[in-house]
Amino acid sequence: MNKAVIKVNKLNKSFGDNHVLRDLNLTLLNGETLAVLGKSGSGKSVLIKCIISLIEPDDGKVIVLDNDVNEINQDELDILRARVGFLFQSNALYDSMTVRENLEFPLRRHWEKGMRETKAEAAVQEVLEDVGLAHTVDMMPEELSGGMRKRIALARTLILRPSIILYDEPTTGLDPVTAREISELIVEVQKKYNTSSIVISHDMHCINTTANRVVMLIDGRCYAEDTYENLQLSMDPRIREFFE
Ligand SMILES: Nc1ncnc2c1ncn2[C@@H]1O[C@H](COP(=O)(O)OP(=O)(O)OP(=O)(O)O)[C@@H](O)[C@H]1O
Ligand SMILES: [Mg+2]
Repeated sequence: MNKAVIKVNKLNKSFGDNHVLRDLNLTLLNGETLAVLGKSGSGKSVLIKCIISLIEPDDGKVIVLDNDVNEINQDELDILRARVGFLFQSNALYDSMTVRENLEFPLRRHWEKGMRETKAEAAVQEVLEDVGLAHTVDMMPEELSGGMRKRIALARTLILRPSIILYDEPTTGLDPVTAREISELIVEVQKKYNTSSIVISHDMHCINTTANRVVMLIDGRCYAEDTYENLQLSMDPRIREFFE
């Protein structure tokens, strides 16, 4: 049987009296792409931030690659974060740095000191080719379109060769054609690097293209879990509304 690379067990998170996550359980298996579907404000970003310990849950356990993210120390967390790529909803590129400098940034943080420049350059070139943007290496983020920025953000995630990638709304704010291209790129990256991924989205086309399995986040918990095809056949009105 496939091994679990992420296990979320009875996760609870409130902000004041806003109880966002309620006893949420979720498992990501090695090699699969799991979509988490939920309305705006349902807690998708909070969930993904709990997984990489950017938000501390009130209760519950998050196990990532056999590490309990709330028990390990800061050094162990840094090492773990290098193995778990996180594509922010906002891309989070550095506006004052070129594409090359943006891509080198994680290398400088995570790779051993004294890494040879040539090795860094080759790594930058490879991930830029992966996302089809080799020609942008000396450009500034402001010179790039929204879709290109998303690709560069993905390249920056790939450069550390993560075994897990967490995508937070990878197609939001993009036109439908560009959104499709990004969805297809996610599939290509999965094939090339054999990553396990969570794709957080409410873009049904993106979910259908990328996901092997879909979890529906409703009322702070996993309301339903199945393949896209099976969920599409559901008669439950709370599931149906996502497909209408
Ligand atoms: N740091 C915070 N402080 C207070 N409330 C927060 C914080 N972060 C998130 N929330 C609240 O938690 C709820 C879930 O937010 P979250 O960002 O996870 O939604 P989402 O499902 O990602 O929505 P979207 O699809 O719009 O990105 C919202 O009600 C939000 O206001
Ligand atoms: Mg969000």
